[in-house]
Amino acid sequence: MTNSEIAELTSLCVMNTYNRFPVAIVKGSGRRVWDADGREYLDFVSGLAVCNLGHCHPKVVKAIQAQAETLIHVSNLYHIQTQSELAKLLTDNSFADKAFFCNSGAEANEAAIKLARKHFSIRNQGRYQIISMEKSFHGRTLAALAATGQKKFQIGFEPLLEKFTYVPFNDVGAVEKAINNATAAVMVEPIQGEGGVNVPSPDYFIKLKELCKKAGILLILDEVQVGMGRTGKLFAHEHYGITPDIMTLAKGLAGGVAIGAMLATGEVAAAFTPGTHASTFGGNPLATAAGIAAVKTVLEDGILDNCAKVGGYLFKQLEGLKKDYTFIKEVRGKGLIIGMELDASIKGADIVKACLAKGLLLNCTESTMRFIPALTVTEAEVDEMIGLLKIALDEVKK
Ligand SMILES: Cc1ncc(COP(=O)(O)O)c(C=O)c1O
Repeated sequence: MTNSEIAELTSLCVMNTYNRFPVAIVKGSGRRVWDADGREYLDFVSGLAVCNLGHCHPKVVKAIQAQAETLIHVSNLYHIQTQSELAKLLTDNSFADKAFFCNSGAEANEAAIKLARKHFSIRNQGRYQIISMEKSFHGRTLAALAATGQKKFQIGFEPLLEKFTYVPFNDVGAVEKAINNATAAVMVEPIQGEGGVNVPSPDYFIKLKELCKKAGILLILDEVQVGMGRTGKLFAHEHYGITPDIMTLAKGLAGGVAIGAMLATGEVAAAFTPGTHASTFGGNPLATAAGIAAVKTVLEDGILDNCAKVGGYLFKQLEGLKKDYTFIKEVRGKGLIIGMELDASIKGADIVKACLAKGLLLNCTESTMRFIPALTVTEAEVDEMIGLLKIALDEVKK
């Protein structure tokens, strides 16, 4: 089928929840993808920070092939070796003692919210309020949507789940003011992704952790977008010298296969007992076999070092554009999640469209261009991307 035939089929049969570009991606390898008409693109979107190892990484492909020939799915009524092994890998490499597996970021956050409530419910403490951040994004299911501090995602779905309060990101004083006797947890992204790549000041999380400890409430970190190596460390909170009580993961965890995970300390995880939470597909053999391959590759194949090195190079190249393109207000980020904020004189969506026409996949969130390539990207590919981006910027600014 061609791009336009696939687009027609989509509009006929698929619910209209996405603004899609008129191309259908049918093949991927490393940092390149191809559309149904055979056109090649350099990919700096990576399935929205999912394909952290690039498309169809051979180690992930091999693990999926082997697992698919052995056992694709089995119920959580039985033990699942790959699930237990992935949990061990994640807990050995983090603050956490236990993991719960699901299938997406929103589900991981649902599980985190439920665990926080249950933690205090079994202690008869009547704490159920969650404090989250303005401009945050935690997913589209109803509890995750209630936690998301952006009105535009919530309109039309009210009444939202009760007891969510929003405060400005990077403002510990605002969290302190919002805490009351009903507060269970603070839920926050280490770097806000969908909200425009917002990086907190270096001491924000140290102070926030101290505050949570003092108030006897839990700290939930949503690492769905910035975890799994995206910032140059396995988990973004490692940059800030703190650990949370609960952490959620998804996106890059299984090299492109749908998966979500919620990790917690042993004390907090103990609130979940048989029957309190579940997922039919959560932690199934196929997804967790892919997860093991992906996590091992991130840890063992120099991926974190490459992310930090090429991330620094990309940051410098984007900073360098500021002198010729005065509509660039700020470049910010860590590792390979970098935002380039534009002023009101130019539309990010127009730049994205112009880049697509030149064979470059880029993304923007409102006024911020977001660069989230695979963590395996090279400096030569960054140079290639900058070359294409400059042509697009020259075209759009006219
Ligand atoms: C920080 C964060 N949390 C949660 C989600 C939701 O994940 P999913 O779309 O897998 O439900 C996203 C998705 O972009 C995200 O960036």
